[in-house]
Amino acid sequence: MNPLLAIEDLRVSFGSGLGRRHAKEVLHGISMSIEAGETLGLVGESGSGKTTIGRAVLGLTAASGGRIVFDGQQISHLNMAQRRKLAKNLQAVFQDPYTSLNPALTISDVLSEPLIAQGSGSSEARTVIADLLDKVGLPSDSARRLPREFSGGQRQRIAIARALALDPKLIVCDEPVSSLDLSTQGKVLDLLIEIQERTGVAYLFISHDLAVVRHISHRVAVLRGGHIVETGSARQVTSEPEHAYTKQLLLASPVADPIAQKERRERRSRLTALDSPSDRLVKDA
Ligand SMILES: Nc1ncnc2c1ncn2[C@@H]1O[C@H](COP(=O)(O)OP(=O)(O)OP(=O)(O)O)[C@@H](O)[C@H]1O
Ligand SMILES: [Mg+2]
Repeated sequence: MNPLLAIEDLRVSFGSGLGRRHAKEVLHGISMSIEAGETLGLVGESGSGKTTIGRAVLGLTAASGGRIVFDGQQISHLNMAQRRKLAKNLQAVFQDPYTSLNPALTISDVLSEPLIAQGSGSSEARTVIADLLDKVGLPSDSARRLPREFSGGQRQRIAIARALALDPKLIVCDEPVSSLDLSTQGKVLDLLIEIQERTGVAYLFISHDLAVVRHISHRVAVLRGGHIVETGSARQVTSEPEHAYTKQLLLASPVADPIAQKERRERRSRLTALDSPSDRLVKDA
């Protein structure tokens, strides 16, 4: 069976408006796939290109090469009308719950917008909204309130409810818990897992934090400098990584115990010293 999402040799360059000579390529031929109902975690340090991959899938950044096939349809060069149609099955949750919701709209407005746009009547939308709020663990009277009346974690639940409104097949989650405190992170991650078990939605889950990615992902891809350096099952990549760069990322994940942390720091600096140019070769996509 074909995967739900197939990214093949994706290239993205910025600054190409100035002519090819000035264009800077930031994704150098990315290939990865996601099955229906699966979570693919995408990790890598800041600037490695994680968000750019997510934005290319969402059509917010143009690909300069390669293909993106979603649900059997090539989606790398769609027009606005085709993109709008695709929104039914392809949604996103972004990092910042404070800017991703329009402050002037009630939660009911936020959640009914995608429903009405896809043809629901207002009473049907009300029923769906009540169900969505229940799904993400918010009280039903939330619908009447404004985003500013909610905490960061609650706003992220609202953003998740909005993404779920049309029962999509894939949600691109770009650092969805990075702005939340640790215990709220855990609750939102568990909510995403529970929703997946219930609905069969797939996630492209982007994070700089390997511990977060390990918790939620079936498979993990590790990105460095616009190349995939390693892919594998979440367990394999996060406990027995093959690539020195992944080992460094693993050691950079924060742990609570200060002694363990000191040991990790020392091991990390040894690994950094070992890091040779051959490590930078693309291994596998
Ligand atoms: N609109 C843009 N114009 C020019 N360069 C860009 C643009 N967006 C991203 N870049 C560059 O592309 C590279 C990848 O950026 P990207 O935002 O994808 O990284 P990231 O892995 O998501 O990092 P972070 O963990 O900090 O969010 C960076 O070098 C960045 O400076
Ligand atoms: Mg990013």
